[in-house]
Amino acid sequence: MSWGIARRSPMPDTRKASQARRGPRVAIVGAGVVGSVLGRILVEEGGEVVAVVSRRLASARQAGRFVRCRRVSTELSSIPPAAEIVYLTVPHAAIEEVAGALALHPGLRFDRLAVCHASGVLTADVLAPLAQRGATTFSFHPLQTFPRTFTPHRIVPSARGIFYGVDGSDRGVRMARRLARSLAGRVVIIPPESRVLYHAACVVASNHLTTLMAILREMFQGIGSSEHEFFRLFAPIVNATLENIRQTSPADALSGPVARGGLETVAAHLDAVRSVVPHLMPYYRAVSLETVRLARAKGSIDAGQEVALRKLIISRGSEESLFVESQ
Ligand SMILES: NC(=O)c1ccc[n+]([C@@H]2O[C@H](COP(=O)([O-])OP(=O)(O)OC[C@H]3O[C@@H](n4cnc5c(N)ncnc54)[C@H](OP(=O)(O)O)[C@@H]3O)[C@@H](O)[C@H]2O)c1
Repeated sequence: MSWGIARRSPMPDTRKASQARRGPRVAIVGAGVVGSVLGRILVEEGGEVVAVVSRRLASARQAGRFVRCRRVSTELSSIPPAAEIVYLTVPHAAIEEVAGALALHPGLRFDRLAVCHASGVLTADVLAPLAQRGATTFSFHPLQTFPRTFTPHRIVPSARGIFYGVDGSDRGVRMARRLARSLAGRVVIIPPESRVLYHAACVVASNHLTTLMAILREMFQGIGSSEHEFFRLFAPIVNATLENIRQTSPADALSGPVARGGLETVAAHLDAVRSVVPHLMPYYRAVSLETVRLARAKGSIDAGQEVALRKLIISRGSEESLFVESQ
């Protein structure tokens, strides 16, 4: 994958570059897509990337060019004492090891240093060896999707102004707020015990939505239409639904046969899905049952309609057959 920049995203113009630095001095460890994108935004917003460290020098160099940082290395010892924050953007499985190695770095003033990581599932506890040396530690998870098949340049606009899921000491949270501000973003505090559920929610927001669109495309292909661009067709209904939810709530935005208690239509849909795309029945039934719960919360169906709809949906398959259908 080339990260060459065909069209550059706006870098600080001469006026901006000549302004005094506003943001913190950050060293990035892990020259992947997250480190590159957030490093670039930091620089565009007036901060400074003082070092890029990665496992492979080629990755560090590529990211260094993107975030306008000349100090690139494979060695943690290249992080200069001037660094105020070290941001670990390595894969989450490598964070513990890298944190342990960083804690042995002789050239850093840990009492003046903050260290954070980008994992959504790990808390600040994984940085304990650094906290023990006096560093301020916190987790700093960008609540956004950074697909590795996209260039960092392409992702930058969608990563500006996002939320960061944070936990840490009071000092850590204060530092997280400063770092978020310097990325034009904001902080949401996630209690450590809820971190995994928070990350599962992020998976629903991005990965499940993507899977849902893949299912939609597959169902559309089963229709036999000559229209090839499924998303062009469905974009208005998808976008309007999201906008309606944004303006009101999921319950208020719900329409359709389940919300109306339309038993016959729901039965016909289940039969059509079973006949054309049978492997989608587990998904279709599970989400239909959740839609019944939402319709009941909305108040558009009564208790009797809820029971009838549940019975109908459950009757269209057992858990065993769901397993077989998904093979
Ligand atoms: N991708 C997303 O959508 C997303 C969203 C939110 C949060 N995150 C989190 O952000 C972090 C980074 O994710 P990513 O998608 O940017 O991953 P990535 O593209 O795979 O980048 C990680 C980089 O870390 C480097 N690396 C691996 N092990 C290392 C080590 N021991 N020491 C130094 N560098 C090492 C790799 O460098 P080399 O190329 O040099 O081998 C790689 O370029 C993860 O914790 C992830 O959970 C990701």
